[in-house]
Amino acid sequence: MAIAQTTTIFFSAIIIVLFSSSIVAHTSGDVGGMPKATDFMTAACKNASANCDEEIHITEKFCVSTLRADNRSHKAKDLRDLALIGIDILKARVVTANGKVQEMLHDAKKGTSMARHLTVCKLVYEATITITNVCTTLLKDYRGPNGGDNDGPASDDLPECVEHVNTLIDYCGYDILHVSGLHALFNENREMSRLAYLNIALLGPYRHNNS
Ligand SMILES: *[C@@H]1O[C@H](CO)[C@@H](O)[C@H](O)[C@H]1NC(C)=O
Ligand SMILES: *[C@@H]1O[C@H](CO)[C@@H](O)[C@H](O)[C@H]1NC(C)=O
Repeated sequence: MAIAQTTTIFFSAIIIVLFSSSIVAHTSGDVGGMPKATDFMTAACKNASANCDEEIHITEKFCVSTLRADNRSHKAKDLRDLALIGIDILKARVVTANGKVQEMLHDAKKGTSMARHLTVCKLVYEATITITNVCTTLLKDYRGPNGGDNDGPASDDLPECVEHVNTLIDYCGYDILHVSGLHALFNENREMSRLAYLNIALLGPYRHNNS
C-alpha cells in the first residue's frame, strides 16, 4: 500500500514535470506568439554574421530576432525571401522615423539650423523609402545568376541596391551627429543603418555571382 502510494506520487510527479517542461519548450519556441526560428533562417543568419565584414557587425542573434518578428519569415525558402522581409522591416522603420521628423519639423522655427537638419533627414528618408521600393522590385524580379533568361536583374544589383539605402541613411546620420536635441533621432538612424547592414550581409552570396 505504502509502495503503491509512493509509486502513484512518483508518477504524478513525472507527469507534472513532463507537462511543465512541455510548456517551457512550447513557450521558449514561441515567445510572444512569434514563430520559431527555422533551421534555414538560423543557417542564413549564421552565414550573414560570419560573412559580415562591415563597420557595423551583424550578430546571428540580431539577425534571427529581427527576422522572427515578422511572421512570414518561417516560410522563407531562400535568402531572397529573407531579404524581402528584412527590407520591409527597414522600410517600416524609415516610414515611422520620417513621420516623427515631419512632426518635429512642424514644431521647429523656420530658417533655424534645427529646421535645416530636420529637412535634410526628411529628404533622406523620403528617398530611402523610394529606394527600398526599388530594391524590393529588383528582388522580386530576380530570375537567377546572369539575369536568368538575361532579362532579370544581375545578382550584384541586389546587395548593391541595399548599399545605396545605407549610403542615403548615412547622410542624415552625419548631418545630425553633433546636434543636441536630435540624439534620439541619431540613435534611431543608427538602428536603421544596422538593419541595412543586415540585409547587405544576407544578400552577400549574390555578390560576384554573375558567372
Ligand atoms: C551557408 O554557407 C555555406 C557555406 O558557404 C553554404 O553551403 C550554405 O548553403 C549557406 N546556407 C545558407 C542558408 O545560406
Ligand atoms: C501575420 O501577421 C499579420 C499582421 O501582423 C496577420 O494579419 C496575419 O494573420 C499573420 N499571419 C499568420 C500566419 O500568423
